[in-house]
Amino acid sequence: MKVLILGSGGREHALANAVSQSPDLSRLFVAPGNPGMAQIATLAPLDIADHAAVAAFARAEGIDLVIVGPEAPLVAGIVDDLALVGVRAFGPGREAARLEGSKGFTKEICREAGIPTAAWGRFRLPEAALAYVRAQGAPIVVKADGLAAGKGVVVAHTLAEAEAALDQMFGGAFGAAGSSVVIEEMLVGEEVSFFALCDGERAAALGSAQDHKRALDGDRGPNTGGMGAYSPAPAMTPDIEAQVMARIIRPALAAMAARGTPFRGILFAGLMLTAAGPKLIEFNVRFGDPETQALLPRIQDDLLHMLRAAADGQLPNAAVRLSPETALTVVMAAKGYPESPEKGAAIRGLERAAAVEGVTITQAGTALKNNLLVAAGGRVLNVTARASSVAEAQRRAYQAVGLIEAPGLFCRRDIGWRAVERERAAG
Ligand code: AMP
Ligand code: GLY
Repeated sequence: MKVLILGSGGREHALANAVSQSPDLSRLFVAPGNPGMAQIATLAPLDIADHAAVAAFARAEGIDLVIVGPEAPLVAGIVDDLALVGVRAFGPGREAARLEGSKGFTKEICREAGIPTAAWGRFRLPEAALAYVRAQGAPIVVKADGLAAGKGVVVAHTLAEAEAALDQMFGGAFGAAGSSVVIEEMLVGEEVSFFALCDGERAAALGSAQDHKRALDGDRGPNTGGMGAYSPAPAMTPDIEAQVMARIIRPALAAMAARGTPFRGILFAGLMLTAAGPKLIEFNVRFGDPETQALLPRIQDDLLHMLRAAADGQLPNAAVRLSPETALTVVMAAKGYPESPEKGAAIRGLERAAAVEGVTITQAGTALKNNLLVAAGGRVLNVTARASSVAEAQRRAYQAVGLIEAPGLFCRRDIGWRAVERERAAG
């Protein structure tokens, strides 16, 4: 099979690594990719927002499967646009991608399908939103309806914070994404990410992970795309996973199919494990970044085979086999991330770091300058380590981090702390 992966981050590099192991792969392209991926794939310098250009390339190269990494092209309908010219792609079409593209839409699906989620209201008028917030009181959560690059959510602990968030959103800080606002109850519990592979009718559990969204140790500092992750999430017991499949994933799939817009792709549920059971915070319609870097190394089945089957609506009924090992990923970001990452800093020592037992390094915002690898984006490197315990995976990952010479990068020093504590408590 000839495969084209769209994207250039650590997630797409991890997908490229996993797909490369399939005996079915004959040639791998990545657009636009990064220098790390160039070692295992051919980079195609395409603008992935230009669907016609992607379609023309896929036709010219005879691509059998396009795998779409990020959400923006999915929400913009790239899978439909490729289908129109006969190119098979893995990921939801435009209508099904609204599960990530519109928080209000997801809430309507939750209501329709009886999916447990935070109590909510959706508002287009600032006055009505303000009245609702005042009636509910703080704490309360204010969300721009549309895609806002992970910045459109404010968990307000005071009424003043909630009112400021409304002003910002209705004031146009997120453009059209904020023209409609969802306001919801604050959920309390442990947060986990859960991934299901869906073929429109059926879903297979792919496993769980926990992300670290804040920039600094101790879960402080600004929100980021994610500073590290581990898989599995120990809080996600088999019993809770079964509840999530039965009450959240399958009802959502059934509701989308009943609307005539079946969901094919990765349904990524952001969950809060509350005292009243797992509740949906949000859906994403793609793999997570950095969760994927920790999740995929644990999958023991042929990923390419599974993604193709899902794209064709022919997912087998068998469960996906996962290694019981933990994989833990530390993100190395450019100093100044997320506000203003510094570019151009040199990176050395990746080979030595990758030689640490169980370690794989994937690249994200990197570039080659005079044959030297340099930082060229916010999140730059992902150091993933596998081991039979979380503590050992964490130790290996930080050992590898220590071997990378990159004074222009920083990372959190406590990735996995929650799981390590849990492991220690369990003896
Ligand atoms: P999102 O951009 O929807 O992933 O939201 C960002 C983060 O805000 C989530 O990962 C949660 O930590 C938090 N969050 C969102 N909605 C709620 C909620 N209803 N209750 C508590 N925390 C929330
Ligand atoms: N790491 C969170 C996300 O991919 O949305």
